[in-house]
Amino acid sequence: MPALEPILGAAHERRVPVLVDGAQLAPHRPLPVEADFVAFSGHKMYAPFGAGALIGPRAAFAAGDPFLAGGGAVELVDLEEVVWARPPEREEAGSPNVLGAVAFGVAADELAATGWDAIHAHDATLARRLHDGLAATPGVRVLGPGSEVERLPVVAFTVADVPYALVAARLSAEFAIGVRHGCFCAHPYVTRLLGVGGAALERARAAARRHDRGALPGAVRASAGLSTELADVERLLAAVRTVATTAPPVRYDRDAATGDYWPVGLARPGAVP
Ligand SMILES: Cc1ncc(COP(=O)(O)O)c(C=O)c1O
Repeated sequence: MPALEPILGAAHERRVPVLVDGAQLAPHRPLPVEADFVAFSGHKMYAPFGAGALIGPRAAFAAGDPFLAGGGAVELVDLEEVVWARPPEREEAGSPNVLGAVAFGVAADELAATGWDAIHAHDATLARRLHDGLAATPGVRVLGPGSEVERLPVVAFTVADVPYALVAARLSAEFAIGVRHGCFCAHPYVTRLLGVGGAALERARAAARRHDRGALPGAVRASAGLSTELADVERLLAAVRTVATTAPPVRYDRDAATGDYWPVGLARPGAVP
């Protein structure tokens, strides 16, 4: 986890406002109140229905046009002018995601009731085992800093000679383990961690323009949360070891449109012997 204070301090010294994308952080740590803007998503905090939040100074939302136009965001529309409502309504155009907002609030309350100390302790145990176990798995390269820094139980990794999308497909089909794969929501950071720059980045851009997802850089990310137990981490570690060291038991075909792999004849996740 990068320390936010020095980043915020250096930016603020230069009068540069900072937006912290707290989507991954929100279920694990309190969000940084020193940031000028914070964005986070309910679905990463165990809430269903897809609501998220962008928090910042009211004045920043009061000028210019809102991100979306629609019902509820306006005071009056005529053929010459739109008079926008005041924030936050002007940034919440359209029918509100009421269920999402309620679920988001309940999830935040539940996290607060669980308490940061308990969450921190749970995370620390899982993070250590997840990181050290993956780092010790043959062929696995863990991206980012090592255990010398404080880590969340969220680890991005690659497996030598196995495309990241195939790692994800095998974990799902053979072990019923869901992971994220690709460049996540952090493309510049992931490509840097993967060492994809210069000519390789140019090739990746060309592949992206052709929408050739099979040629895009990426990694696999395993994320643990409050319902994850140490036994789940052990299951993941054993599964990754199998994927890294043995050939697939069935043929996997790659879907050219999505770049994803799919085992031929799969009935349901975890069904491949
Ligand atoms: C750091 C980060 N930011 C943003 C997002 C995207 O959030 P949403 O699905 O709410 O657009 C994700 C999702 O993986 C994420 O990990």
